[in-house]
Amino acid sequence: MDILLVKETLTRDELSFLISLEGVERDYFLKSVGNKYIETLGKKVYFRGLVEFSNYCTKDCYYCGIRKSNNHSERYDIDDQAIIEAAIFAHENKYGSLVLQSGERSDTTFTSRITNLLKAIKEATNGELGITISLGEQSEEVYREWFEAGAHRYLLRIESSNKELYYKIHPEDEKHNFETRINCLKTLQKIGYQTGTGVMIGLPFQSYEQLADDLLFFKDMNIDMVGMGPFIEHTETPLYAHKDILWPLQRRFDVSLNMIAALRLLMPDINIAAATALQAIDPMGREKALRFGANVIMPNITPTLHRKDYTLYENKPCTDEGAEDCSNCLSIRVEMAGREIGYSEWGDSKHYVKRH
Ligand code: 5AD
Ligand code: FES
Repeated sequence: MDILLVKETLTRDELSFLISLEGVERDYFLKSVGNKYIETLGKKVYFRGLVEFSNYCTKDCYYCGIRKSNNHSERYDIDDQAIIEAAIFAHENKYGSLVLQSGERSDTTFTSRITNLLKAIKEATNGELGITISLGEQSEEVYREWFEAGAHRYLLRIESSNKELYYKIHPEDEKHNFETRINCLKTLQKIGYQTGTGVMIGLPFQSYEQLADDLLFFKDMNIDMVGMGPFIEHTETPLYAHKDILWPLQRRFDVSLNMIAALRLLMPDINIAAATALQAIDPMGREKALRFGANVIMPNITPTLHRKDYTLYENKPCTDEGAEDCSNCLSIRVEMAGREIGYSEWGDSKHYVKRH
């Protein structure tokens, strides 16, 4: 094990071994990575205020609670003024940046609205607030328009880098094409976005080897940021039918932390987010991720009225707290995890800075 902690790079077998660790060996692995990376990357943790501004979605992913075919999802779309106010809140509370996320839409009413919104947010925050967007697959032209309007980071999870598994969790049609998704990531990088991706962990049919390949995929793609967390079955989705073959929630949680630690070894200078889904399983889930390799946390600052409707999965944490409660409790939690908050810093991925 000690050899793996200092190797230049790791193979698929070595990664699978680390990801599947249990018991005392696992504890030793997590602790060692935690200590090693505080020495190299430092203690800083960056806040991204997350605004999930709409759950209208044109896609139909088999795992997702806001998929188009879920007629039981209460749809909402927060107006621009309220989004801008949330951005101002993030700025005033010294969050380095903002993440705008919604269901996927590519009609021009939507894409131009985002362009204008990005400009308005930049203006309302004196250009000081970093803006990440997470708005799914779009054309190169739209990605460019949004980049020019002020977004500089983009999150688009690959969900699984294994094509076969990808089509077990998505319909096999033009709207859910695996190659298109990879091409979108390449286009985002070409335009100059700091590009983030990620996967779900503990999906039905998923193996440790596939998870190891996911980590190697991030490295091959030269990704700047990763957000990955446990899969949590949602009753109103097709994947719910496979609930009996899933790993127990605790195992999905444990393997998620192993994935974060293994990725930190493989890619020491990228940004890794402590995914919110971790907290749906363990109330201290995100703080644990910060101890073992994650350096970004995304407090939810969506206006409270609509939070409960952005249910990608059930039991989503903090759905009934105001943003203010959230940020107070978070700063205490981050400090308890032995980390420091990088107030007012964009917290760019060091990997991206080196690439440019
Ligand atoms: N469990 C965990 N994560 C989910 N996501 C969507 N549905 C679920 C679920 N049931 C994740 C996807 C998506 C991100 C916004 O939320 O990875 O990219
Ligand atoms: Fe694909 Fe929501 S329908 S992530």
